[in-house]
Amino acid sequence: MSGGDGYGDRGNRDLSIANAGGMGEDSPVHEGGHAFVAPGGPFLIGEAMTGGYGRGADILHGCTIAVERGEIAVIVGPNGAGKSTAMKAVFGMLNLREGAVRLDGEDITGLSPQARVRKGMGFVPQTHNIFASMSVEENLEMGAFIRRDDFRDTMAQVYDLFPILKEKRRQAAGELSGGQRQQVAVGRALMTRPKVLMLDEPTAGVSPIVMDELFDRIIEVARTGLPVLMVEQNARQALAIADKGYVLVQGRNAHTGTGKGLLADDEVRRSFLGG
Ligand SMILES: Nc1ncnc2c1ncn2[C@@H]1O[C@H](COP(=O)(O)OP(=O)(O)OP(=O)(O)O)[C@@H](O)[C@H]1O
Ligand SMILES: [Mg+2]
Repeated sequence: MSGGDGYGDRGNRDLSIANAGGMGEDSPVHEGGHAFVAPGGPFLIGEAMTGGYGRGADILHGCTIAVERGEIAVIVGPNGAGKSTAMKAVFGMLNLREGAVRLDGEDITGLSPQARVRKGMGFVPQTHNIFASMSVEENLEMGAFIRRDDFRDTMAQVYDLFPILKEKRRQAAGELSGGQRQQVAVGRALMTRPKVLMLDEPTAGVSPIVMDELFDRIIEVARTGLPVLMVEQNARQALAIADKGYVLVQGRNAHTGTGKGLLADDEVRRSFLGG
């Protein structure tokens, strides 16, 4: 799947939003040498995750999702399968009873979401992912909250990626269209200069044309070397751009493969892609 440079056939366009070095507040994770560091393996993995909300029943049952360096991994599955729950578990928003989350080989299972952001995770949740009453630009500034350095270059890069946001930068984010709001949400996550981007249904509620455009932008971001782990309703289209795909059913991994492999799988087509 991926070429020798680890970026597959996407090449590496220098958009520089990706941040190989990390935030600088926590020292970057080095391969080897650290007690919890296991070199190699996926860049980000939630492995054999079991857990649920609070004291409630388990929603995830040994579920694994991961993304490799320079790749796009896509999670699909029916409503209520636990896709968002799996993403939240990877981001540290629920306590796992079993399993582990590792980022660049480091076990981060015990870290808070805030600490994970400092380690380089950018997360766009499925809902409530913008500050509706704030302007577009204020949303981006909020995204940069953990940065102590000058983030204007990153903002310029976000505006290059999503030119409409520059045009509307003084407008309240809540007044934007659905697709534009999703751009604000992704832009906000990019403002931390994350090392991995997690998106929960970035194309929810947008037209097919806007969906295609958002996917193009996501591919563009991934080409810079930033791994993208995303949940998608539009399974067919998402698997078509995925290096790796996961089909989740009732909190379990039902099918895992390359995007192309899953699209070609008869059982996956019949059960999850409408034939
Ligand atoms: N905050 C919560 N508290 C308790 N249970 C929850 C919570 N959020 C989700 N659940 C439950 O967890 C299960 C999985 O929900 P989840 O949102 O992860 O599914 P999903 O695959 O993301 O679905 P969708 O495609 O509709 O977004 C559902 O049974 C849901 O009711
Ligand atoms: Mg969901």
